[in-house]
Amino acid sequence: MDIVMFGGSFNPPHRGHRAAARAAIRALQPDKLLIVPDYLPPHKVLAAGSPTPEARLELCRRNFSDIPGAELCDIELRRGGRSYTSDTLRELAVRYPGARLTLLVGTDMLLSLESWHEPEYILQNARIRAFPREGGDRAAVEAGARKLRETWGCDAAVIDMQPIPAASTGIRAALLEGGGTELLTDRVYAAIVRDRLYGVRVNLPWLRRKAYALLKPKRIPHVQGCEAEAVKLSERWGADPYEAAVAAILHDCTKKQPLEGQLRLCKRYGIRPDDYERRSDKLLHAKTGAALARARFGVSEAVAEAIRWHTTGKPDMTLLEKIVYMADYIEPTRDFPGVERLRDLAYRDLDAAMMLGLELSDADLRSYGTEPHPISAEALEFLKGGPTR
Ligand SMILES: [Fe+2]
Ligand SMILES: [Fe+2]
Repeated sequence: MDIVMFGGSFNPPHRGHRAAARAAIRALQPDKLLIVPDYLPPHKVLAAGSPTPEARLELCRRNFSDIPGAELCDIELRRGGRSYTSDTLRELAVRYPGARLTLLVGTDMLLSLESWHEPEYILQNARIRAFPREGGDRAAVEAGARKLRETWGCDAAVIDMQPIPAASTGIRAALLEGGGTELLTDRVYAAIVRDRLYGVRVNLPWLRRKAYALLKPKRIPHVQGCEAEAVKLSERWGADPYEAAVAAILHDCTKKQPLEGQLRLCKRYGIRPDDYERRSDKLLHAKTGAALARARFGVSEAVAEAIRWHTTGKPDMTLLEKIVYMADYIEPTRDFPGVERLRDLAYRDLDAAMMLGLELSDADLRSYGTEPHPISAEALEFLKGGPTR
């Protein structure tokens, strides 16, 4: 049996790791290629704010699970402590008696292998195969492999493949700036966003793609308009345009669902609809949208609350909540009697615009024979300085 061990911190696992795994499977044709995220790297300190070993394991699951022949292995997590490769190879030898073990490493690692813990054990009990990295010195690496062969009598070689781009350090820096998406698979990036790993600032083009896929196509221009308006209103009133954009992009993310779908989402996210909401998919999409935005896209509480209140409003709204409510109301594709007045007012006096919006909405709903949710009246009273204040 031929086993390849591909270890590392995978902090985060990226497309380059996938390329290395695929190339190793192609070149070495092993029975299994084990992806072995470390618990605690022996030779370096993980960057501050790095995810837990369990979170890195989960990211690895997402990164490699569709590669035939690759298998996730939590051996180093279960062992805990410093993750010495020699210990892992010993465990693998017990788990797979008689197997030929191969260690897959980046070429930079190949050059430092002799300084690892128990190098003699590693080099006498495993073949070494290295994958080249972009910008690496091929000649130096070939020389390194030759030295390992000559000094230790081990079987060390560089896999013949395109050098892999990207390193985790650069990706972590890019994530902080809203980049990194092109170097990560969608599934990995989605989990990083959802769990807010690496202090990620979600990439807006990526978020738009995801959110629009949840909409009926005819609603997309409305959501685009809402985002543009929310950003403009934020600039006018001093809110964070990024948070406003995220909230606007996601504000109708469950709107496509009819009432049964909304009620299913309520169950999934532990939402208890009130009597008004139980009868109305229009009211529920604000609540379920906030829950989905939180659960799937890891949005901040402020953003989730802005989505939560975009339909009815509520007393004592935050600036961001008012902005999303108003942007939804006056975005450029909206066309109804009074919209121009509301647009004008929204940039002169936001609270006055909120009052007018709540009044217009109340009248509009009643004209269709729909009883407005009482919280909208409370919102209006609050703004008027009425009894709820
Ligand atoms: Fe909506
Ligand atoms: Fe909307």
